[in-house]
Amino acid sequence: MKLIAPSILSADFARLGEEIKAVEAAGADWIHVDVMDGHFVPNITIGPLIVEAVRSVTSLPIDVHLMIENPDNYIPAFARAGAAWISVQTEASVHLNRSVQLIKECGAKAGVVLNPTTPIQALEWIIDAIDYVLIMSVNPGFGGQAFIPNSLDKISALRQVIQTKNLKTLIQVDGGVNEKTIADIAAAGVDIFVAGSAIFGSNDYRKTISSFRAKINKQAQF
Ligand code: DX5
Ligand code: ZN
Repeated sequence: MKLIAPSILSADFARLGEEIKAVEAAGADWIHVDVMDGHFVPNITIGPLIVEAVRSVTSLPIDVHLMIENPDNYIPAFARAGAAWISVQTEASVHLNRSVQLIKECGAKAGVVLNPTTPIQALEWIIDAIDYVLIMSVNPGFGGQAFIPNSLDKISALRQVIQTKNLKTLIQVDGGVNEKTIADIAAAGVDIFVAGSAIFGSNDYRKTISSFRAKINKQAQF
């Protein structure tokens, strides 16, 4: 399963409904929503109200990436708002197992996110309990940053762990995914490709998503 998840962080927020419908029509698989609190990351973005609005304009699964402190305080509200997939940053969750359980109790699929310098060993005692791992390939907080090259080795190493343990855990990548980087990222073994500026900054969403898909399929070996 290879999925493309446009991040609405780079959408035109004055026309958010139209933007979401446009990427859905262009072939997107998920809608990725970046939630930032101004504490865990230096930026502030979206709350459950916006997720509810997104839910009302699309039938695609909504994937909420929580870049916030105290995520347990907000997971239920995002699930109620319509998030089908919810991920928390390892660095922001003091009781990661509890956060993951809470996401599942709320009826959503659970993901854990690793910052660029957080080792995959941080997943050792949680990986068999989660649905997906999100590898941050930029420092979280902003769209349009350059892909950090050593993320490729990290993805390959994680793919190895998942294969060895015979798990179904999906690997998601987020940050700096574009026409130039996507082939190598796909070859490293990613399942879900988040892209913000490369999709919403392009003139033709359909063309961009199709070209991403072609590049992914050419590399797909997992
Ligand atoms: C960054 C966010 C990303 C961001 C990616 O903190 O988690 O989802 O939107 O943006 P691009 O694809 O422009 O690097
Ligand atoms: Zn994100």
